[in-house]
Amino acid sequence: MCGIVGYVGRRQAAPLLLEGLRRLEYRGYDSAGLAVLENGTLRLHKKQGKIDQGLAPLLHRQPLAGSLGIGHTRWATHGPPSDENSHPHLDQTGRIAVVHNGVIENFETLKQRLVAAGHTFTSATDTEVLAHLIGEHYARLGRGDVGLHPLTQAVVNALPEVTGTYGIAVVCSEHPGLIVGARRGSPLIVGIGEGEHLLASDAAALAAYTRQVVYLNDYEVVTLSAERFEVHTLGRGPTAVQVSQLDFSPESAEKGAFAHFMLKEIFEQPQTVRNALRGRLDYDGAMARFGGLNMTTAELRAVDRVVITACGTSWHAGLVGEYLLEELAHLPTEVEYASEFRYRNAPFDKHTLLLVITQSGETLDTLAGLRETKRRGHKVLGLCNVVGSTIAREADGGIYLHAGPEIGVASTKAFTSQVTVLVLFALFMGRIRMLSPQDGARLIRALEAIPGQLEWVLGQNDRIRQIALKYKDAADFLFLGRQYSFPVALEGALKLKEISYIHAEGYPAAEMKHGPIALVDPETPCVFVAPLDRIYDKTRSNIEEVKARRGPVIAITTEGNTDLAAKADDLLFVPETLDCLTPLLTVVPLQLLAYHIAVARGCDVDKPRNLAKSVTVE
Ligand code: M6R
Repeated sequence: MCGIVGYVGRRQAAPLLLEGLRRLEYRGYDSAGLAVLENGTLRLHKKQGKIDQGLAPLLHRQPLAGSLGIGHTRWATHGPPSDENSHPHLDQTGRIAVVHNGVIENFETLKQRLVAAGHTFTSATDTEVLAHLIGEHYARLGRGDVGLHPLTQAVVNALPEVTGTYGIAVVCSEHPGLIVGARRGSPLIVGIGEGEHLLASDAAALAAYTRQVVYLNDYEVVTLSAERFEVHTLGRGPTAVQVSQLDFSPESAEKGAFAHFMLKEIFEQPQTVRNALRGRLDYDGAMARFGGLNMTTAELRAVDRVVITACGTSWHAGLVGEYLLEELAHLPTEVEYASEFRYRNAPFDKHTLLLVITQSGETLDTLAGLRETKRRGHKVLGLCNVVGSTIAREADGGIYLHAGPEIGVASTKAFTSQVTVLVLFALFMGRIRMLSPQDGARLIRALEAIPGQLEWVLGQNDRIRQIALKYKDAADFLFLGRQYSFPVALEGALKLKEISYIHAEGYPAAEMKHGPIALVDPETPCVFVAPLDRIYDKTRSNIEEVKARRGPVIAITTEGNTDLAAKADDLLFVPETLDCLTPLLTVVPLQLLAYHIAVARGCDVDKPRNLAKSVTVE
């Protein structure tokens, strides 16, 4: 949430910062702003709204010149979206500018103190308080403060007063060659160039300029100039850094010929599933192999319970994971919303393993659950897409999804990659416990067929668009499924509501009779996820129950099943596969249905209202 970018070097900063903000805009698009040091004077442009409607035209009309600057794209937490609440924010003197991602929880107390000391504020944000606080410490620098650059020292002195989370970039007109950055709980990456340095919330803003990066850790403060950078840990002094190579091609974050990132990412799924499988199938052992679990087979064999924690779509993948681990490995498994899990005193014993699932690797609640579990001495494995993300670095071990950048705010290809990796993990855990080689080999054969089957499902895109046009004006939708199709129903409902703003509920199909069936009427489409699985006959009865109440039925079933032709109003097919792999196929028509409905309703599919891609606040 919120994107930060900073540049110091020889090039013009403003165009570079603007391009960086465009690449970070999926993190938040309530407003955007820049501060550039122009001949020793801080000049700011900040505008409510998306970059192309606000900041970019302003910058075009009134260019900013200078080779040092910071920028920000905002997802509002404190104070509504407005020009005044946009970042950067200035301190009392107007010399210091700050951009911030995170939440300063004690901002009201700090603000009262600063107001009493004569400070005046122009915004409702917590960030402006932080800017004033840094300014106050800068004005107070004294003899005891030696060794660090004055701006760095002011930041180092101010941050211990702050509770909450931050990734910040700070500039000061009195130090025209310098940017200071710091993080606690919100990501920040240094980009190392030739005669230039960059700072950004994520790799997307850096990839066009450098491959060499340093992922900052919590409590680290970095001082950047064109020629060098130094990292200090709060309270501990200079810190050695590890330079990493960025594995991110800028082209992979382009839309190409697709109208939206979401559509591109839906169509990438045959390839992203192949990527998730590559090198991980052990044909001889009829099992899976992984490079980065960092746990021995004996340690994994000793695991007798798994807790999965995640948010949103990743939580839905986790629910599929629960069913998979129970079925294939007979492992008791529970799935917890990370925002609940982190504040519960969930019982763990020494053989409980925590699995965290996250596309971004930065979701704050998931990260907090990981940290608390590690603090208590338990092992944590991470299933992550973004290489080098905080969760990927802090987990004891894990499995990368290799899905490439997911830019659309609605998660699509991450889900199918997560489920693929969970199938592999369940296969591995099953084979070291009780799963037979024959069943392992059967699963591998079925998995290998999935990418081709996904291509077949995508071939129904036009038909799905027609169905979408038929139902686009509905006010409510129900999504229903049983067993492996229940998490898919939840995911279908989430996709529809987040990008089309239509109210949608996902439910276990039989549970419908305990309440939601009251919503069924001729105006409420019911989407049934009904592949020919071991519980198909039961799902078909639930379809009858809806039809008996004149509810329109859209059903997703297995190719060749003629059984529903007379019952469903609209029918879509997926190829036959094992029950446990059906989510990989049945979710795709639901992604496309949501996409086409949202487009038909004129919604901004890649940037749905109120949302941001990476949720780095509580
Ligand atoms: O990056 P993560 O997988 O941790 O993100 C979790 C959720 O924020 C995310 O899945 C969210 O629900 C998406 N907008 C769903 O499309």
